[in-house]
Amino acid sequence: MPIDIKQTPNLIKARSRLHQQVLILHDEIAIPERLRQVAAGKHYFIKTYGCQANVRDEETMRGLLEAAGFKPTDHEREADLVILNTCAVRENAEDKVFGQVGVLKGIKQVNKDLVVAIGGCMVQQAHIVTDMIDKYKHVDLMFGTHNIHQLLDLLDEVYATKTRVVSIPSLTSESHEALPAKRLHRFKAFVNIMYGCDKFCTYCIVPYTRGRERSRPVADILNECRQLVRDGYQEITLLGQNVNAYGKDKGDGYDFAALLEDVAKTGIARLRFTTSHPWDFSLRMIEVIAKYPNIMKAIHLPVQSGNNGILRLMGRRYTRESYLRLVASMRTAMPNLALTTDIIVGFPNETETQFNDTLSLVREVGYDGAFTFIYSPRVGTPASRMIDNVTPELKHQWFDQLVKEVEASAQIRADALVGQTLKVLVDGVSKRNDKVLSGYSEGNKLVHFIGDETLIGSIVNVKITSSHLYSVHGDLV
Ligand code: 5AD
Ligand code: SF4
Repeated sequence: MPIDIKQTPNLIKARSRLHQQVLILHDEIAIPERLRQVAAGKHYFIKTYGCQANVRDEETMRGLLEAAGFKPTDHEREADLVILNTCAVRENAEDKVFGQVGVLKGIKQVNKDLVVAIGGCMVQQAHIVTDMIDKYKHVDLMFGTHNIHQLLDLLDEVYATKTRVVSIPSLTSESHEALPAKRLHRFKAFVNIMYGCDKFCTYCIVPYTRGRERSRPVADILNECRQLVRDGYQEITLLGQNVNAYGKDKGDGYDFAALLEDVAKTGIARLRFTTSHPWDFSLRMIEVIAKYPNIMKAIHLPVQSGNNGILRLMGRRYTRESYLRLVASMRTAMPNLALTTDIIVGFPNETETQFNDTLSLVREVGYDGAFTFIYSPRVGTPASRMIDNVTPELKHQWFDQLVKEVEASAQIRADALVGQTLKVLVDGVSKRNDKVLSGYSEGNKLVHFIGDETLIGSIVNVKITSSHLYSVHGDLV
């Protein structure tokens, strides 16, 4: 099959933070007439890997595809179009995608008309794209994180010309505010407030794959939130790689604290946000979170390491001591605060003593939970060029030790909930027992209790009677 390589990603270009005007557009996207005819009767399937930003991108892709007339299916073998929406943050995420690309090759041998597309962070890396072009000839379309708005035009070309298409810009030139979205949840919504990241932590690929920090216009964010409230949504989660940096690129003084306050005033029942960088978490933000009852007292505050030497090598811009001071200010303002974090073990040349600092920090903070990772070198990042003398065996041993420490901390926090009455947003029927409902507390703890299905989507009081590591049980009050 012929191939049309329009643009391939370039790491150096992606790394540059040279001033580039991003056009913000409010026009509705045009749907190619030819594609409408192709889409009639066709089904699509999207598999998303990675973080909430990708989940929100999937909603946009669904919105676009359904506007063109494609219908969703839950079974990839029944699909006419499969999109893999990929993640690049660690090697194991990429391995899963390569495995899935292999599975699709088999499916395409049976269903010759299947169109396979790959988007997301993984294909923002040149070496991956080269591999896909050379070795995975059944992949029909590759598009990036900066041009999701072009998805329908690119598909139109694939279908009309029977050409493989590669279009992956390294930078954002246009930001489309009026893209359709098919939300995946009925009463909980993700709202992007900013894209990209300028922090350049030395291990992280995100600043390259998602580009420069760009804040969405406040009016667009507030309009989206108000519409969600009108549509009956109960919970909004504001999304950004680093939400605290909101507004810094605009320089008009309107910051994340101001935005949080304005979104809280829309009257949404529950407001969350993720992710926060400890470095620019302001005291004003703590005040706002503490002040509004509808802002959930649950903060995800990635620490990555408890050792100052490692934090410096990671380029994290804070110390163990300043992190602990920030946590102390948060706990003073919000005694019931639930704190979660991300931690990396086995950073190049980490020593046992440095690792032990991470263990002691976990104990000292008392996390409600943590995502733990073994360091994974990412092509092009500064950390990937550091010589690493830590063996994989030792990294795995540390990882197991860390998981135990996190579990001990989470168990203490869960046990402390017994006897308390928690407000729970009821999500649905438990996967294990259809008499049991499940939902999340304000502190983001999974709560199970016996109740009627009519409660789904509402907020109820549950008195907690027993605790497990990652969930608690209780009785409806
Ligand atoms: N290796 C391991 N973990 C990583 N993360 C980001 N980059 C890497 C990497 N190269 C983790 C960090 C981040 C989370 C989303 O993923 O902990 O907070
Ligand atoms: Fe990656 Fe650091 Fe940005 Fe988070 S803050 S996305 S870890 S560079």
